[in-house]
Amino acid sequence: MILKKDYDLTSLNTFGISANAKFFVEINQEIDIPELFQLKEFKDNKKLFLGGGSNVLFTEDYDGIVILNKIKGIEILKENDLYVLLKSKSGEMWHDLVLFVVDRGWWGIENLAYIPGTVGAAPMQNIGAYGAELKNTLENVEAYDIESGDKRIFTREECEFGYRDSIFKNKLKDKYFITSITLKLSKVENKNLSYKVLQNYLEENKISVENPRDVSDAVTGIRKNKLSDPKVIGNAGSFFKNIFVEQEKLKKLQAVWSDIPFFKEDLPTQAGEVIKIPSGWLIEQCGFKGKRFGNVGVHDKQALVLVNHGGATGKEIKDLAIQIIDAVREKFDLILVPEVNLI
Ligand code: EPU
Repeated sequence: MILKKDYDLTSLNTFGISANAKFFVEINQEIDIPELFQLKEFKDNKKLFLGGGSNVLFTEDYDGIVILNKIKGIEILKENDLYVLLKSKSGEMWHDLVLFVVDRGWWGIENLAYIPGTVGAAPMQNIGAYGAELKNTLENVEAYDIESGDKRIFTREECEFGYRDSIFKNKLKDKYFITSITLKLSKVENKNLSYKVLQNYLEENKISVENPRDVSDAVTGIRKNKLSDPKVIGNAGSFFKNIFVEQEKLKKLQAVWSDIPFFKEDLPTQAGEVIKIPSGWLIEQCGFKGKRFGNVGVHDKQALVLVNHGGATGKEIKDLAIQIIDAVREKFDLILVPEVNLI
């Protein structure tokens, strides 16, 4: 474990924002954790655990220690005719894990293909896409208490998952370092093709789903089509979360915008039925889609995605985000909340 000072983070965040960390360390194996926790620079400074850097926006230099998680390894814990219990270390890339799983014909995370970031980031925000969420397959999360150094196993219930949300973003924010997750995957066919965009893609491309790889390939195709590769144009996927409203608010909105898209969802964290309004539509209605403002802009195919056209600062992205939040509040009386962590 080598401690570095004034470390350049540009290549470690998918927005490609240039920012320096006061201290930086990379950790490659779990047995390095006690040593890390004993480090003076770790104890005395604020800490940021970084995985793929696909969900952060550095708005200034980081005045603390950045720990880059490179702890890797995938292990089968248990297997029978029906299911597999699979444990993955948190520094694996999420999509590599998806490929490992679909190539063996196991079902459960194929709809979550091609999501950027590491395995450790996945439970933080209960990653979700194309009708699936991590919480549907997750068995448990292993993590270290940053203060005491004790290891703890969180069951699915203890993770308190919600839409793009978990206990690790709330009560236990910055308190635990996630080192691995365990998934329960089905060996029996278990397709989840309910998401309209996915259905349409399969029909248009005449794909009949025989195995989970067919689904992950389709999802990868859709994502590649729609979302820019951060290596080509800096971005962090959806910058904002979608918005949930009650029936009454929907009616008010429909009275003015009769074509407003909405999706009825059943969220366990909410009482009763909730209605999802796609934030991408709201942003598009405010005229931002595909617009460029100097070095920053809004994606031309998905208005939820903010982009760095090159040389942008984190502050420029943040200012654009504020401009968008203000415009959406003004027009719809709805408050957009960032999905990306502003650092
Ligand atoms: N829409 C627009 N204009 C836009 C974008 C979207 O009108 O520019 C409306 C359309 O009505 C469309 C609807 O929004 O039918 C839904 O769009 P999409 O299927 O692209 O999904 P989303 O709700 O905008 C969410 C996730 C994505 C995930 C997709 C697919 C969030 C914050 N985002 O986006 O996740 O890939 O669903 O399941 O929930 C990410 O988190 O980084 C991410 C990319």
